[in-house]
Amino acid sequence: MLKLTVLSTKGGVGKTTLTANLGALLADLGLRVLMIDADVQPSLSKYYPIPRGLQRAGLTQVILRGEVGVEAITPTLFNNLDLVVSDDPEGRLPAWLLTRIDRGFRLRAALSAPAITRSYDCVLIDTQGAVGPLQDAAALAADVLVSPITPEILSAREFRDGTMELLDRLQPGAHVGAALGTLKALVYRQDRTTDARLIATQLREDFGSLGGRVSLLDTVVPYAKAYKEAATARMPVHRHERQRAGRMPSAYLVMHRLAWELVPRIAGAYAGPGMRGEGGR
Ligand SMILES: Nc1ncnc2c1ncn2[C@@H]1O[C@H](COP(=O)(O)OP(=O)(O)OP(=O)(O)O)[C@@H](O)[C@H]1O
Ligand SMILES: [Mg+2]
Repeated sequence: MLKLTVLSTKGGVGKTTLTANLGALLADLGLRVLMIDADVQPSLSKYYPIPRGLQRAGLTQVILRGEVGVEAITPTLFNNLDLVVSDDPEGRLPAWLLTRIDRGFRLRAALSAPAITRSYDCVLIDTQGAVGPLQDAAALAADVLVSPITPEILSAREFRDGTMELLDRLQPGAHVGAALGTLKALVYRQDRTTDARLIATQLREDFGSLGGRVSLLDTVVPYAKAYKEAATARMPVHRHERQRAGRMPSAYLVMHRLAWELVPRIAGAYAGPGMRGEGGR
């Protein structure tokens, strides 16, 4: 089972959109996916429709108990795609975690239970764009960390500074037994005014100072209105925009490339028309 956390020390960079779209595509490609909304503002929890009456317990129970009980899992309207909702509007969980010596591994341990590893092929965790104990727990729970970097972040060099701090804080040793997964940077919401070569050059410079602890994904997610439209329609973007005219690749293609890069064993597989999951359960 692959555990992947989407994180960034900055807010509003596209983490939730990315988590939701990647989760739904992997589910359409036949993987059994569990998304976890680890942001106290429950955007991922509301992203896709949930069958009426099926909202259950959520993240609070997972963190407090240190396990993902059946009642903490909410099915979405799409096949193969389940969700642990964020149910902590007052933001008590981070403070509670701070009182726990095992705060770094609590989520990791919960996701390592056989009931979860047998039931899912992939867990995707969405986080809040800030620094805190919940983000640390989500980062330490993952094998792979994906960090969307937008052109604004690049210009401010926030990625290097924020990421460096995160890596330093969470390196093995700080949390015995919990090694940090590999960090992959994703150029995200790239617009036509940003020069791809300049981005690559700057990232390479920044990565130099990060000591080889970060790699850059080949896939670039462009700025496109399809991502917003799909979110408004509460639809996965690969279903919303299957084709487009012009030079920019369709969201269908971009999301597939990203999914293949992150999960190489499904490379080359496409979510077809009349996809599994159409109609849902
Ligand atoms: N590829 C894209 N092109 C254009 N707009 C996008 C793209 N991806 C996401 N967006 C838009 O960017 C905005 C921020 O996205 P999102 O809410 O996913 O960010 P976030 O990192 O989860 O924010 P927060 O830190 O508040 O949780 C949203 O309005 C979303 O529709
Ligand atoms: Mg978000």
